[in-house]
Amino acid sequence: IYPDSELASVAVARDIVQLMQQRQAEGRPCVLGLATGSTPTRLYEELVRLHQEEGVSFQNVITFNLDEYYPMAPDSLQSYVRFMHEYLFDHIDIRPENVHIPDGTVSAGEVADFGRRYEQQIVAVGGIDLQILGIGRTGHIGFNEPGSGPASRTRLITLDQITRTDAASDFFGEENVPRRAITMGVGTILEARAIVLLAWGEGKAAVVKRMVEGAMTDSVPATYLQKHPHVRVILDEAAAAELT
Ligand code: F6R
Repeated sequence: IYPDSELASVAVARDIVQLMQQRQAEGRPCVLGLATGSTPTRLYEELVRLHQEEGVSFQNVITFNLDEYYPMAPDSLQSYVRFMHEYLFDHIDIRPENVHIPDGTVSAGEVADFGRRYEQQIVAVGGIDLQILGIGRTGHIGFNEPGSGPASRTRLITLDQITRTDAASDFFGEENVPRRAITMGVGTILEARAIVLLAWGEGKAAVVKRMVEGAMTDSVPATYLQKHPHVRVILDEAAAAELT
């Protein structure tokens, strides 16, 4: 628990760079799982600063994003492809071929195949070393909404009404928010070697309490993180306020 999200984000950025340097020393790529949304933006800003001002290189980094709205063109204002380029990729020296984001343009009939290929790509590079997560008010991680089990894999999902309400301002109205998304599964996320979940602000306090102190249940998919041996939950004081 940090006094504020600024200090927390800077600390997480430092941990990521340390992991990147460790993998570099071992002559292996560093595989990061990345999230979008408002939570990690300060973290990405700090990674950009570390690159631009302190010469940190991302040449040996491979990334896999958690999710993308469906359907979604990559150049749309709300696409997660665009988000990642704007906040991170356009400002660091990551190789374009090392970036992976679920493709919101595949046809409905091809999504299952796409999901299998996405998972194979993760396995082919040795699995995710560190997965960054946010949490939705529904208890989703990625877009694994209530009902998602611990064995779920990369797939098409129907977004919860609360999630669509929370996204309404990005889409200039709830009616414009896509009804579906492609997301890594809970099972996919749990295969990462280490996980860091970030949550800021009082709006997350109730779901953080359920995630950390509640019983594991499909109704709050983030509770399945309790099964993982190397997970850290990084909070500001407001998000931690309801923990006992
Ligand atoms: C985004 C993602 C979601 C968000 C969550 C919180 O890639 O996977 O689980 O992390 O919806 O969103 P924010 O950070 O906007 O509160």
